[in-house]
Amino acid sequence: RAADGDVFGRLDGRVVLVTGAASGIGAASMRLFRAVGAEVVGVDLTAGEGIVQADVSDPAQVAEVVDGVVARHGRLDVVHGNAGINVPGRPHSITDDDYRKVMGVCCDANFYLVRSAVRHMRTDGGVFVFTSSMCGVAATPRSPVYNMAKHALIGLAQSVAVDYGAQGIRAVALVTGPTHTGMVDELWPPGPLRDSLIATTSTGRLATPEEQARAAVFAALPGSSFLTGCALTVDGGATA
Ligand code: NAI
Repeated sequence: RAADGDVFGRLDGRVVLVTGAASGIGAASMRLFRAVGAEVVGVDLTAGEGIVQADVSDPAQVAEVVDGVVARHGRLDVVHGNAGINVPGRPHSITDDDYRKVMGVCCDANFYLVRSAVRHMRTDGGVFVFTSSMCGVAATPRSPVYNMAKHALIGLAQSVAVDYGAQGIRAVALVTGPTHTGMVDELWPPGPLRDSLIATTSTGRLATPEEQARAAVFAALPGSSFLTGCALTVDGGATA
């Protein structure tokens, strides 16, 4: 296929599940997975076109969504675990509730996705892509639980790779850099805070959600067949 310029292949006939699909990187991921031929089901707190309503921090809801996708579409090939939230504050100010919320969405949800989805992938191979973060390799101030959770996603990608690699299942954690989404608008509003975030990059700008979604698609395409158990950095040079 490389001869006709199709180096990475496509996902025609494959089924993709994207969490946090209603906005930002997840919404772009849905669009781009469709562009390479996949049938895509989104998950978010509110339902929308192609998006199922569920709270991914609840294991029962994750199991129901995954089983529902397989019942309706007959298979599940790629899971992009992307939903995330942050509650800023230094460790001493984080309440039990905030701790559980951030761990629940950023970390636990992705474990639940693996547990529910992996058995459906056993005969066909499959790919997990997790939206980790620069915070998964180096701490951002005032984000202790988010930092912990994002580190955990790199461990989860490694675990999936070593435990299921022989079955053709791959897993990649995206070390995502500053990206213009609702999360950044809320936590780094335009002004000095936003400028300090942009200044961390070599590109002098935020990524677009599409630039991050392309990395998710790249990781999942058949041509990335030796890419697994790794952290793929897409940060405009911010950690360089
Ligand atoms: P966003 O806020 O636009 O998207 C997050 C989505 O997750 C929202 O649609 C939200 O409703 C959904 N969500 C939150 N809690 C959920 C739950 N319990 N169940 C189901 N869905 C839930 O933000 P963005 O930036 O697109 O975030 C996507 C991922 O990218 C997150 O994991 C975030 O941590 C990560 N990330 C973002 C960066 C950035 O600069 N924007 C940098 C590094 C990582």
